[in-house]
Formats: sequence, C-alpha cells, structure tokens
Amino acid sequence: MKSVLSERFFFSPSRDGGLGMHYGAHPLIFKKAEELRNRMTHAEELLWNYLKINEWNLKFRRQHPLSIYVADFYCHKLKLIIEVDGEIHNNEDVKRHDIERETNLKDLGLKIIRFKNDEVITKLETVLEKIKNEISDLQNSPSGAGGLGTAAVLSPATVANIVCGFDILGFALDCPCDELIVEISNEPGVHIINNDDFDLPTEAEKNVSGAALLALLEEATDIKGLKLTSKKTIMPGSGIGSSAASAAGVVVAANHLLGNRFTKQDLVRFAMNGEKVACGVKHADNIAPCIYGGVTLIRSVFPLDIISIDAPPLHVTVVHPQIEVRTSDARQILKQQVLLKDAIKQWGNIAGLVAGFIKHDYDLIGRSLEDFIIEPVRSILIPGFDDIKKASREAGALGGGISGSGPSIFMLSKDAQTACAVEAAMKSIYDKMGVAYHTHVTTINKEGVKIA
Ligand code: HSE
Repeated sequence: MKSVLSERFFFSPSRDGGLGMHYGAHPLIFKKAEELRNRMTHAEELLWNYLKINEWNLKFRRQHPLSIYVADFYCHKLKLIIEVDGEIHNNEDVKRHDIERETNLKDLGLKIIRFKNDEVITKLETVLEKIKNEISDLQNSPSGAGGLGTAAVLSPATVANIVCGFDILGFALDCPCDELIVEISNEPGVHIINNDDFDLPTEAEKNVSGAALLALLEEATDIKGLKLTSKKTIMPGSGIGSSAASAAGVVVAANHLLGNRFTKQDLVRFAMNGEKVACGVKHADNIAPCIYGGVTLIRSVFPLDIISIDAPPLHVTVVHPQIEVRTSDARQILKQQVLLKDAIKQWGNIAGLVAGFIKHDYDLIGRSLEDFIIEPVRSILIPGFDDIKKASREAGALGGGISGSGPSIFMLSKDAQTACAVEAAMKSIYDKMGVAYHTHVTTINKEGVKIA
C-alpha cells in the first residue's frame, strides 16, 4: 500500500459520495497507480496471475487507487484489499504508517489482508488458501457481499445540561448502553423491530430512531431502506438520554454501513429529528456527547456548532427513582423569562464549569455545579431531591443535580471510592423514603457510540 498525498485529503468529500470503488481518490493517486502497475514486483506478478482470473469469479483490480492510497489488489464486491509487502514494511516507521492506514481504510468499511513477498514466492499455495478462506468468510458474513450490510452498535446513556448548561452541555456515560442493529434493506423506508419490553412505537415517523434514520435516508439516496433491531436498556423517561441513545446510535450504525460518508455533525443533525419526536424540540445536548463522546458544548443548534471539551477523570453516580418524567412535560413547566441577576449567576457557573473541565480543576468544577434557573422549577418533580443532593455532597461528591430533564439525579466525584460512597448515601435516602430506584456508578465515556 503506497500513499502519495497528505492525510488531509483523506476525508475530503469523494466524487462518488463515498461509496464508489475509488473512495474519492485524487488524480495524482491514479497517476501513481499507473506507474506502479508498470513496475510490479515479482511477488505481485505471481499473485496477479491467480487473481486476475480466479476460481471465485470475482473481479480483482491491481494497483487500485483508493482514497489517498494505492491498494496492491482490490475486490470492490467484497471490499477486500490484498497487500503484498516488501522488506521495507519491516521498518518501524513504515510499520506505524501501515497501522494508521489500516485504521483509516477499516473506517471506510474495507478489509485488508497482507502477505510478505517471500510468502507469495515460496508458499503460494498457503497464501491462496488464506485468500480463499477470507473470501468465504466475507461472502458468508451478514455485512459482507452475501448481505447488503449489518452494523451493530452500543449507544451510551448521557447526562444533559450538567446542571447549569441547560440545552448546551452534556457528557456521555460508560454505562448503561443500548444495543442497536441496523441493516441496509431493499425494502423502502425504515422497519423497526423492538427486542425489549418498552413497547416503543414501530412506525418510523413516531419512533425516535426511525425519525433519525428517515432524515439520514433523505440524504443517502442510493439506498432504499434500513431495518433496525433495537434492544434498549436505557429506560425511556429516565433522564439519562434514552431517546438520544436510540437516535444517535442508529445513525452512527447506518453511517458505518455507508462507508462513513457523513460527518459527526451531519449525524447530530439527523439524530436531532429523533429528539423532536421525543419532546418536540431539536436539542442536541444528549445527542452530541452520545456521538462525539466525552463532554460537549453546543454553542449553537442552528447552525450546529459543537465543541468537545477536555475534562479530567470523573466518576459519575446516577440514581434513578422509578418514576417517569417526560422531557416534554419537564420543558413545559419552565418559566419563559429569566431575571437578569439569575442569568448573570448562571453565566458565571457555565463559564466556570467549562474552565474547570479544561483546567482539570476539580474545586472549580464543584463550585460551578449550581443552577439558578431550571433546577428550582424541576426539582419539585423529583422525590427527595434536596436530601439526595445534601447527602451526596456530604459523602464527598464534587456536586451534581438533575440529569437532563430528570427524574435521575447525577453526582460527580474525583475517584471511584467516593462515587460508591455517594451511591450508598443516595440509596440510604431512598430506602428511608420507600422510593424504588436504580443506581449506576460509572465514568465519562470518551468514545461515544461504539461499533460492536
Ligand atoms: N436539555 C434537555 C432538557 C435535556 O433539560 O430538557 C433533556 O434530556
């Protein structure tokens, strides 16, 4: 595999929307490929004799331009690259580059197998056997040429608002996660199968994942339809971004199937249609951290302006009293006017919180976790809210408050031991009050939706 362009060309929009067999390769790459075709190595020539007309009836191309690279051999039907490496690939620098290129190409949904020159020359039969096995695996795998493509993802829960940043701040959690499987289908539209007990709508327009996928389909005009199998563990109406996990997870899965042609910002845009179905408003403070991972700031929704914020290691304790608070209701009760004196205090806290994250200043984070606008109104919906907050602080939490629109309450701690002490304090309050609850002790998820 050779590259002749800098990495910045890699993600430039491709001429074919990302799915063509050259993945937007620049004319320079075509030129380079032609040169390489005219001076193939002995090993490459040997293998080419077997690949050009083969027993599997597959079309292979040699020295094939692919994004910023030239693949030694490429079969587009299987998205399979076969590389034949000379001595130079033993060099440490070249090895590092090979790893980076493999990662980039895998992100495009391509499979790479490598052989050494020597192997091809001295053990050609073994090499052909390995290729044959790989081809058979790809043909039989649901995401290979045998099917139209399937991608499974784990989509994380999120904490929106982070107390003072209503609709503009959020972070992702390492657990819980929803399991979502998306398949490209020849049936037009979005078809939904729910594999859980939440009884969510299966009509695409009324389902948060369905609405997000329909928005994506409008721009992915080369595919007819998508099928979703959803197994949710994040309870709807819990306040930890259940709808966002559904909407964000499916668009990341679909994008993976489409060779990652859409940017993360595009995916947030599609997924916000799910939030619109869930609560009537396209807010992105759950969706963005779910897709980007970590802590995110939504400076603006129209147009989208999302900033990832660095943060120090943080442990999160979440308690979910077993009542449902619909985000639409929790938004409905909010006052539409804010006193300037409250706005000033709130701005101070938002800026302080962002600065605290970036400076890794735990005390500043703790001091800034105050909400003068939303919490006083919403906390009345949550049993024992003030007691839970007080007991958590006493147990060592930096601070916290309502997670998203509630009813879950979250607390941040510096270490796992404190996060567990906070959990115990929360449990003891709800045990005394006779309130049923679930808890999670977890950390901030840096990765966002993950291809399983
Ligand atoms: N920012 C949204 C709200 C989050 O508080 O209504 C909902 O999870």
